[in-house]
Amino acid sequence: MSFPTHRARRLRQNANWRRMVSETSLSVDDLVYPLFIMHGEHLRTEVPSMPGVFQLSIDEAVREARAVHEDGIPAIILFGIPESKDAVGSEGYDPEGIIPKAIRAIKMEVPELLVWADVCMCEYTDHGHCGLLTDSGEVDNDSTLELLVQESLVYAEAGADAVAPSDMMDGRIGAIREALDESGFKKTVIVSYAAKYSSAFYGPFRDAAYSAPAFGDRRAYQMDPPNSDEALREVAEDLEEGADIVMVKPAGPYLDIIRRVREAFEVPTAAYQVSGEYSLIKAGAAKGWIDEKRVAMESLLGIKRAGAGIIITYFARDLARWLRES
Ligand code: PBG
Repeated sequence: MSFPTHRARRLRQNANWRRMVSETSLSVDDLVYPLFIMHGEHLRTEVPSMPGVFQLSIDEAVREARAVHEDGIPAIILFGIPESKDAVGSEGYDPEGIIPKAIRAIKMEVPELLVWADVCMCEYTDHGHCGLLTDSGEVDNDSTLELLVQESLVYAEAGADAVAPSDMMDGRIGAIREALDESGFKKTVIVSYAAKYSSAFYGPFRDAAYSAPAFGDRRAYQMDPPNSDEALREVAEDLEEGADIVMVKPAGPYLDIIRRVREAFEVPTAAYQVSGEYSLIKAGAAKGWIDEKRVAMESLLGIKRAGAGIIITYFARDLARWLRES
């Protein structure tokens, strides 16, 4: 089939033809909205490097959760900002810590909304690494697993619908699944940050959660950006260990990974459009150099087209509004 018999432009000639042959569409059904939770009351502090994103006290987070639910978005994911940090990240697995309190409050007021809890140590450790340190300053895998298990149990107990380990320790999914099942949390979903890269795109998040490593970087536990086959091994392992949903993170620079994972496993695949991806679009728009709505929607469409059925994005509420408007 070639020109002039075939003319690709025939099916592009007006909006109705384009709509009929459209292969991908964005929907609020796919979205997860991240919230940063802090201690205090009536607090709503904008993150300087993430315009439109706020650190919220629990009462404000409950209000936000209600609005997210009214937008038709099915889920939120929570990140905690503790009162104080220590070497072993105590507040991360304290049943009276910021996240269990927030989960209880949100599930009480907006029970239908799915609450995912990010499971990691870096927000709670004073050194900012995602686990326990050895004397030589390395993150120790196996002792960290015990804390991640504790943290997951505490969040499940508080009522989280899903726990989402983002630490990249080996064996965490199996350890968490086993502990959840033994404690009667058979229905708690595990969303694994399976292919999480050691990325410069997390910069603004670390401002929001005060979780930048105090020394060094995360390259000894998060994935190396040049690698792709390794992502498939990570995903295979997490599925084997009991992950219900696997995630690729960041999204935009790793669309090829999303596509490979989706094709190789045909399981629910999530992608995280991370803080840096968001902030770059916001900054470009603030300069007047790009159209925020169109660029954000095109980025999200690319993530969806690559194969992500679930997208975690700071644009979730904006997208819900944009979809309503159109
Ligand atoms: C915790 C965690 C991070 C993000 C999600 N969970 C930061 C990191 O690994 O340093 C990043 C999210 C974002 O950039 O929006 N480990």
